[in-house]
Amino acid sequence: MTASSLVLAIETSCDETSVAVVRDGNEMLSNVVSSQVEIHARFGGVVPEVASRAHLEILESVLAQGLADAGVEPSDLTAVAATNGPGLIGALLVGVTAAKTLALAWDKPYVGVNHLEGHLFASFLERPDLQVPMITMLVSGGHTSIVHVRNLGDYEVVGRTLDDAAGEAFDKVARYLGMGYPGGPVIDQVAQAFVAEGVGEAVAFPRGMMDNSLDFSFSGMKTAVINYVRKHPETSNDALAAGFQEAVVDVLVTKAMTAIDRYGVATACLGGGVAANSLLRAEFAAACAERSVTSLVPAREFCTDNAAMIAAAAHWRLHHDGPTALNTGATPSLRL
Ligand code: KG4
Ligand code: ZN
Repeated sequence: MTASSLVLAIETSCDETSVAVVRDGNEMLSNVVSSQVEIHARFGGVVPEVASRAHLEILESVLAQGLADAGVEPSDLTAVAATNGPGLIGALLVGVTAAKTLALAWDKPYVGVNHLEGHLFASFLERPDLQVPMITMLVSGGHTSIVHVRNLGDYEVVGRTLDDAAGEAFDKVARYLGMGYPGGPVIDQVAQAFVAEGVGEAVAFPRGMMDNSLDFSFSGMKTAVINYVRKHPETSNDALAAGFQEAVVDVLVTKAMTAIDRYGVATACLGGGVAANSLLRAEFAAACAERSVTSLVPAREFCTDNAAMIAAAAHWRLHHDGPTALNTGATPSLRL
């Protein structure tokens, strides 16, 4: 695809501190991820100030581990990259400042990477031969969008959430039901067990915005759960969780397939933390197979936040645009 490179990337946009070393955009030499989930669990969500401080405390050791696991020296590197948005400003600044400092100290170019482009490149990390144009659905705690990837670097966001992100809805429903944080993995696990045991019916929830548009609305689906519990307080969390997950996955897969049909692409990918969801992975792959569309759902560790995907995107950006100026800051609301 492009010339040879060895990129070290830092990801600190939310609550994972991660460092990876990737060769040529797809050969992963290391990918260290330190999660702050236990620190934030007691607050029921990510506390921005706490996240920034935690990144600062752990980054040095994650960095050392990332280099050691890869078995490379700073002098071997081609570039140092960091996520520069979107995300929590304080958290982003830790990674961006570290990457720029290292780039200066090691005399390497710096590359700022859009976190969403990173999620998109997670698919290429696994399958560099994937063909564009493609449809990629990005579903995370902060974002839910359908992207028409006309070419690498040429993105058209053709659908987006009008209110909550899908992961945010999972987290809020789990919190309301007292199931813990983060909600996505908990609901996934509980729903899977409930269906496997076959002990009851999942609650049938309404699907939001099932019209022809590619936009989403998850806030109403969250309210539907709350209203249902008020009317039927005896319902088990398992039946509620399974029903909510089925409704969200149904909406996501239906809209992704509408986009695939509308844009006539032969390839489709998933990205973002919610792409770790078992039901979504299975339903998305099955619906694509039905259409003879090539699909790729990255391994779970590359769906949730990680620096390997940032390094993959940085490799492409470096060869396409060159280094990022050192006076470029971090942008909390950066768009794709
Ligand atoms: O991409 P990510 O790690 O961070 C952001 O960029 O937001 O996504 C985190 C989100 C959280 O809302 C979490 O609940 C959700 O991804 N998530 C899941 C699963 N694993 C993580 N949602 C549903 N099922 C899962 N298995
Ligand atoms: Zn993310």
